[in-house]
Amino acid sequence: MIIKIEAIVRSERIEDVKDALHAIQVNGITVSQVMGYGQQRGYMEVVRGTQVDVQMVPKVKFEIVVSSEEWEAKTIDAIQKAAYTGEIGDGKIFSYEIRTAMKIRTKETGYDAIQEQE
Ligand SMILES: Nc1ncnc2c1ncn2[C@@H]1O[C@H](COP(=O)(O)OP(=O)(O)OP(=O)(O)O)[C@@H](O)[C@H]1O
Ligand SMILES: [Mg+2]
Repeated sequence: MIIKIEAIVRSERIEDVKDALHAIQVNGITVSQVMGYGQQRGYMEVVRGTQVDVQMVPKVKFEIVVSSEEWEAKTIDAIQKAAYTGEIGDGKIFSYEIRTAMKIRTKETGYDAIQEQE
């Protein structure tokens, strides 16, 4: 099963999350800067120690594709621990099954394209 995990976390946690993913040896990550809001739309959220009136808050999005449910659980757990502060705005983690993956260089698809370290 090919599974994609998307995690939207506090910008200041980028290094912690990156290190946590590196530590469990995921094979690749994509990171982008995103804007968004959660349940507290229009309320106050603390960003880098400062209270801001949030309409849209800058966050960091991690995308990781893995090749099993075991890796899905491992990845989600690592992100949750690394991104957690306990305060409002810690972010969210989503995962879903994806249809296919292809490694362009070798044309390998599916499991072979994203196989974790052996
Ligand atoms: N349902 C959602 N769909 C898509 N993106 C979401 C959703 N909820 C939150 N996000 C994204 O996650 C970011 C952080 O959300 P946030 O942590 O504020 O979620 P929350 O549900 O409000 O939780 P909390 O109560 O801890 O703040 C948002 O800025 C947004 O980018
Ligand atoms: Mg929120």
